[in-house]
Amino acid sequence: MAPRPEFAMKHFLGIEELTIEEINHLLSRACAFKQNKCFPNLSTHTLGTLFYENSTRTRISFELAAKKSSMDVVHLNVSTSSVEKGESIEDTIKTLAAMGIDSFVIRHAQNGLPRLLATRLSDCAHLINAGDGTHSHPTQAMLDLMTIFEKKPNLPALKVAILGDILHSRVANSLIHLFSKVGISDLRLIAPPLWQPQSPLVGWVTSSIKEGLQGVDVIICLRVQKERLQDHEFLNTARYHEQFALTEKTLNFAQQDAIILHPGPINRGVEIDSEIADHPQSCILEQVKNGVFMRMAVLDYLFS
Ligand code: CP
Repeated sequence: MAPRPEFAMKHFLGIEELTIEEINHLLSRACAFKQNKCFPNLSTHTLGTLFYENSTRTRISFELAAKKSSMDVVHLNVSTSSVEKGESIEDTIKTLAAMGIDSFVIRHAQNGLPRLLATRLSDCAHLINAGDGTHSHPTQAMLDLMTIFEKKPNLPALKVAILGDILHSRVANSLIHLFSKVGISDLRLIAPPLWQPQSPLVGWVTSSIKEGLQGVDVIICLRVQKERLQDHEFLNTARYHEQFALTEKTLNFAQQDAIILHPGPINRGVEIDSEIADHPQSCILEQVKNGVFMRMAVLDYLFS
């Protein structure tokens, strides 16, 4: 097991503040939880899940991770809560913390909100970022790294492609930070010009799927995030599929044993064909499975 870093963190907000020791520790703990089925005992703690945007994977896997670690879990149904009467998220957290909830998983459309809340509510509770706008989704990036590491452990040697709507993807943003920290330097960012990132920390940008996927070991396919597109950013779905979808034909540009990831939810026939989503080299459901163990490792790290 990687040694536990000396200083534990109060919040889990973004990949940027993780050290390589912390990344290795979380990977090691998550893999150990998965293999040994021996989970931490965090029974003195309570987790509140605050999802101001929809979620299936992230919310349920945090809930499972916490329950398997003997925590109480409380879910705030935003649409039937006092949020609808105008209560701010800050007041909601203070209110729930007063009841004894000492950690919150937060998903919100506003970029940077979890970090802002952490500066205002630092003494109140542990805050975990479960996705803020187009900015950051650190636990998704960590579980993606775990999935890659299990299949192809020599991370710095890998050729990795991120394909799709990169500009609006908080997952891509967190992955780019994470790949730079673990030494993955051959990173290809494949997107139509409208959805390309500006000056990425690592990797090179292309609008040619053939060029970008050439010889890669790992392909991370992204959903077209219609809910985040401005009017001028919409592309014709059929044309997008023709030029940028992961299909049996485009998969051939990659290494024969390339693995396929997608953070989900997937839109079959848009960014990925069914044959590829269900392909023997697809790790999409393994990512979902790993999400429980990586989130357990994050909770364990914050509390232990
Ligand atoms: N990948 C991801 O964040 O999925 P959910 O929106 O279902 O949580």
